Amino acid sequence: MAKVATGRDLGKSRLLDEFNASLMFDKELYKEDIKGSLAHASMLTKQGILTDEDFADIQKGLLQIKDEIENGEFIFDIGDEDIHMAIEKRLTNLIGDAGKRLHTSRSRNDQVATDFRLYTQKQNIILKNLIKEVLATLLEVAKEHTSTLLPGMTHLQHAQPINFGYHMMAYFAMFKRDLERFESSYKRNNISPLGCAALAGTPYPIDRDETAKELGFEHPSINCLDTVSDRDFALEILFNISTLAMHISRLSEELVLWGSSEFNFVVLSDDYSTSSSIMPQKKNPDVPELLRGKTGRVYGNLISLLTVMKGLPLAYNKDTQEDKEGVFDSVKTATISLTILNEVLKTMWVNKDAMQMATKKGHLSATDLADYLVNQKGYAFRDAYKLVGSIVDELEKSKKDISDISLSELQKFDKNITEDVIEKLDLKNSMNARDSFGGTSESSTKQQIEIFEKWLHEL
Ligand code: ARG
Repeated sequence: MAKVATGRDLGKSRLLDEFNASLMFDKELYKEDIKGSLAHASMLTKQGILTDEDFADIQKGLLQIKDEIENGEFIFDIGDEDIHMAIEKRLTNLIGDAGKRLHTSRSRNDQVATDFRLYTQKQNIILKNLIKEVLATLLEVAKEHTSTLLPGMTHLQHAQPINFGYHMMAYFAMFKRDLERFESSYKRNNISPLGCAALAGTPYPIDRDETAKELGFEHPSINCLDTVSDRDFALEILFNISTLAMHISRLSEELVLWGSSEFNFVVLSDDYSTSSSIMPQKKNPDVPELLRGKTGRVYGNLISLLTVMKGLPLAYNKDTQEDKEGVFDSVKTATISLTILNEVLKTMWVNKDAMQMATKKGHLSATDLADYLVNQKGYAFRDAYKLVGSIVDELEKSKKDISDISLSELQKFDKNITEDVIEKLDLKNSMNARDSFGGTSESSTKQQIEIFEKWLHEL
């Protein structure tokens, strides 16, 4: 098959084609390429650079090519190097000279920057909407569990009693920031590279505002030398996905732990669990484990493009062709990860009793006893802290939890302690005592749910 006509007769080696080509992966950008070419051709026609007949032919040809690609009829040949050249060659085959005129006042440098930006902008919105669905699920789970006690932890050690709704809303807060990152990347990068040509603009009387508007961009970029070599928009989506993957991984780690017989806090639905090939009794959390594991490739993609970009002189360099596979991979990974995470959360069973039982370990209301001694009995906090420490030491010996201690037992340590202490040591009361803004009390958790739900609805 003949190659795309280029200025000089270079690059005949097949080995070069194999090394140089991006077609086998950048064909993913065919829709964006056709969209960009249509906007470019329409603008050239309005500016009197192309005729109406040329435009009609180009439009018809490009739409046919789109159909051919979607029907699997299009022949992809790596000799064409990339999707831009492959479509242009096919267009010229189909419509003749008008196809050759399409590339007037355009370079593949602004073309690829435009196509890839259109792609990442679309994905910013898709990922934002997928996160929104996970947030809605977290909200539903949280609403059901504002009085479900579980041990709040620091250092993975029992610390203070919290409720499961509060725990879920912590993840809501993380994923909300992720959503906002995709949103702000979209806003910041909604700028059109088209018309920058190779690096320095073009002598043709083009209208960059027109193509920017046509493609849904806010305005054309201001400096073309930067634009054709800028891949910050790609790095941003890679970073946003990396942070999202880190959050998904943290939640997945908890799901793995909670599903173990040591915790037994949640049971994942059979639909999203797997079996062992040898141990018939096993139900494995492959989904959260894989979600946790996917973080590796996603971080790799970010570091890989950061490294590609770090030594590049202005302006376009072929190195940037290495920008695409990692972004496609991270986007696909994030898309399926969010979709399956949402299903896992929707279908998991929360074992309230196991959570409640776990709060009886680790003296979760020890801080409340110290606070009681400070507030009711006038102790300095450090003295109260020390006294409670010695009580906990004793309780450990008798394998008893501080929430089950009787008044007479407490009075053996300090005669000043009175009946009103008992309600302070109750675990639900302890949770509800933390009523400061952002705290874990049932009413504070409900307030958080209300604030976050309002934000979600207004999105
Ligand atoms: N396939 C190339 C890429 O993805 C397109 C741009 C090529 N431009 C050039 N002057 N070689 O970056």
